[in-house]
Amino acid sequence: TLKLVIIGGGSSYTPEIIEGIIRRHDSFPVTDIVLVDIEAGQKKLEIIGDLSLRMIEKSAKPIKLSWTLDRKRALINADFVSTQIRVGGLEARSKDERIPLSHGFIGQETNGAGGIFKAFRTIPVLIELAEDIHTICPDAWMINFTNPAGIVTEALLKHSAHQKVIGVCNIPFNMRHSTAEILGVSPDNVKIQFIGMNHFVFGQKVFVNGVDRTEEVLEKLVGDHFDYSPANIVNLGWSKTFIESTRLLPNPYHQYYFQTKEVLEKDLQAYKENGTRAEVVQQLEESLFELYRNPELRDKPKELEKRGGAFYSDVACSLMDSIYNNKEDVQTVNTFNNGAIPDLPNDAVIEANCIITNHGPRPISVGPLPATIKGLVYQMKAFEELVIQASISGDYNDAYTALLMNPLIGDEKRSKVLLDELLEAHKAYLPQF
Ligand code: G6P
Ligand code: MN
Repeated sequence: TLKLVIIGGGSSYTPEIIEGIIRRHDSFPVTDIVLVDIEAGQKKLEIIGDLSLRMIEKSAKPIKLSWTLDRKRALINADFVSTQIRVGGLEARSKDERIPLSHGFIGQETNGAGGIFKAFRTIPVLIELAEDIHTICPDAWMINFTNPAGIVTEALLKHSAHQKVIGVCNIPFNMRHSTAEILGVSPDNVKIQFIGMNHFVFGQKVFVNGVDRTEEVLEKLVGDHFDYSPANIVNLGWSKTFIESTRLLPNPYHQYYFQTKEVLEKDLQAYKENGTRAEVVQQLEESLFELYRNPELRDKPKELEKRGGAFYSDVACSLMDSIYNNKEDVQTVNTFNNGAIPDLPNDAVIEANCIITNHGPRPISVGPLPATIKGLVYQMKAFEELVIQASISGDYNDAYTALLMNPLIGDEKRSKVLLDELLEAHKAYLPQF
């Protein structure tokens, strides 16, 4: 048997991963899928379960699928466990976005104060899950999609006994695919040398069939016609000077750091018109589940592409496929640095090109950080460590320093204002504080 357990199975994203499994079934022959969720998600879980069954039936693949609220039982004999949970749901996300915005700061689910609180809510829950995996199915790989994915992965690798944990994100995948589109080549032939961390990764070089085409891509990056932003980020474009000076491919999340004022203005405007992204996603979810409920639907609907995480299944499924088959191909995932970037600690989690083996990912040497981004990468990594520390200790001062040292906050008085308001707003999901 080959068993996959999906934690957060009631998520509207699940049809993505089911489709990915079906498509790869010849090389990655999953026999059992169990969708797990919590009581509050039971209704969604049933709708997703029924739709998944219809998708599998249509594919005629021999996959057994079931769903349950009993996580511990579900984990028995699991080979892969993927996690896509949102502690506190979209309501909590909306607070992460609204509260910072109301004080004139970036309000975003993985960046700034919102990202910090998402980590605070999530890390203890996922450590508990990792411990369960370690006792019930110690050989299983935990594939973590839960945000902030890089920070969460580092917390798990450092603070749980289970070491078979890999963090994933669709941003490197999106960057590779859009670069291919711009150059008019197949994404399979494009390699980007990545350097950095999750949602803070840069592209250093672009190779097409071994030929360095970085210059061409950088040229095309100037302005705003080259858009590889996921649906949740509006592309504001990059200036000629920025691109020519850094000579790096930024990722869409870098807008929050290098175009902070413009993004803030735009987000405040969007907030007035349509609410925050969480509220937009709530509506999207409603219409998605309306579609999912239709007994005639037997495929992943096109509408799912309106979510920022569209195509994430390609990342998760090709990763599992390569581990299972010991493919030793290169994929971009979140794992311990282990010397790939010599100026970061070995046990810092980075987002890096890795050789994927049945023993997991082995990062390919990247080399030192370019001087242009070194300071910010150091700060971000040090900040991430503070977030992990505070998530576990539940100490007020630890939490305060995490906000203070975040490049999007860093204001003595306002760090406290944000901290106090967010602690109060999220207290039901922060037992450690
Ligand atoms: C991107 C990020 C994901 C994030 C998603 C948000 O794809 O890589 O980490 O979860 O966007 O999309 P949403 O539709 O929830 O705003
Ligand atoms: Mn991501």
